[in-house]
Amino acid sequence: MKLVTIIGARPQIIKAAALSRAIRNHYADRIQEVIVHTGQHYDDNMSQIFFDELQIPRPDYNLHVGSASHGVQTARMTEGIEAILIKEQPDFIVLYGDTNSTLAGAVAAAKIHVPIVHIEAGLRSFNKSMPEEINRIVCDHCSTLLFTPTKAGLENLKHEGFPMSNDGPYTIDNPKVYHCGDIMYDNSLHFANIAEEKTDIIQRLELKGKPFILATIHRDSNTDQPQRLSAIFNALIQLSKECQVVLPLHPRTSKLLKTNLEEKLQEQIFNNPNIILIPPVSFLEIIALERHAQLVITDSGGVQKESYFFKKPCIILRPETEWVEIVQTGNAILADADGSRIMQAFQHFKDNPPTMFPEIFGDGHAAEFMLDKIISCKVL
Ligand code: UD1
Ligand code: UDP
Repeated sequence: MKLVTIIGARPQIIKAAALSRAIRNHYADRIQEVIVHTGQHYDDNMSQIFFDELQIPRPDYNLHVGSASHGVQTARMTEGIEAILIKEQPDFIVLYGDTNSTLAGAVAAAKIHVPIVHIEAGLRSFNKSMPEEINRIVCDHCSTLLFTPTKAGLENLKHEGFPMSNDGPYTIDNPKVYHCGDIMYDNSLHFANIAEEKTDIIQRLELKGKPFILATIHRDSNTDQPQRLSAIFNALIQLSKECQVVLPLHPRTSKLLKTNLEEKLQEQIFNNPNIILIPPVSFLEIIALERHAQLVITDSGGVQKESYFFKKPCIILRPETEWVEIVQTGNAILADADGSRIMQAFQHFKDNPPTMFPEIFGDGHAAEFMLDKIISCKVL
């Protein structure tokens, strides 16, 4: 069986590590994986670093599309992916998540009848102003096999009319939905101890034994709106009076800090000894930071979940989340880009540190589950 896997953005490269590892360890005699990197992310610390660190096979193709507007970037990827699918004639294309690379893969494959496997299916924010919401809805509705990481994802697909107990053969018009757990959880479990052994970021940043907050910010709804970005950074300045704040900066954010924040605010951030601004870190390094942090503040999907995996409270810098369970269990609070809600959430977690983190993301073997189904289910 031949799979063409599309990756492009940082979280997809990380997710691909789990599937490629499972293929290598359990299915090498039955599955050939052809990896296509769209080039959506291209800085070394947004791409190459993960291949080196997580033993992901070198991509067979790199489309080098780089950054551009949504339409231009997606169009370039679609054209490149279509040509590769025609050449490779795979049994399936594998798409992760909800980025423009996902959308391009879905459109290219569906039109030439290559069955789509969507990993991280069914997630919804119910906010179509997010580019990701459009991408994930299109991808789900073009897919033949949908693997949903959470029960909420399963429910969303049910409400959108996906059949829940249909028999094969499966097609784009008779898709099969599986609830399988989260592939990111596979990775977090696999790499957690390796991260402790192989990274020295805690020592390097002189954080050993000190309480600190890990923060990440990259959503366009936060970075591109000066008012929201300022509100978030003002809150981080407030929090830095309580403890250190470590902020690995996504390239989108580092670029927009300079244009979207007033100079005075920039000075307060850049000259603040308690705000540690660093370039994007590797996966092992972020895991180490997540494990040692007292609390996580983020607008990232992946980092929200990882804070839960490592039993840390999380303040979400968004009005809503697709990972509703982590809010429902009381381990995360939606604070949006609102300074007072951020400070209230911080105080709440300081007074009531969460202790119960029920297993809602599967058993750490989502990749094997998916490969079993891909190999065995009947698809036309
Ligand atoms: C993308 C995804 C988002 C995901 C995020 C993960 C879409 C629509 N968005 O957002 O869902 O959460 O990746 O990180 O697909 N840049 C660099 N170097 C790089 C990559 C990006 O400098 O290696 C800068 C460029 O200025 C670029 C900007 O970051 O214009 C945004 O990059 P882009 O890939 O368009 O979107 P992300 O914000 O990264
Ligand atoms: N991540 C990383 N280094 C960083 C920041 C994040 O390796 O400096 C990892 C993080 O642990 C998670 C993934 O990148 O596994 C999440 O990616 P991102 O926040 O860019 O996107 P999202 O998950 O929101 O789509």
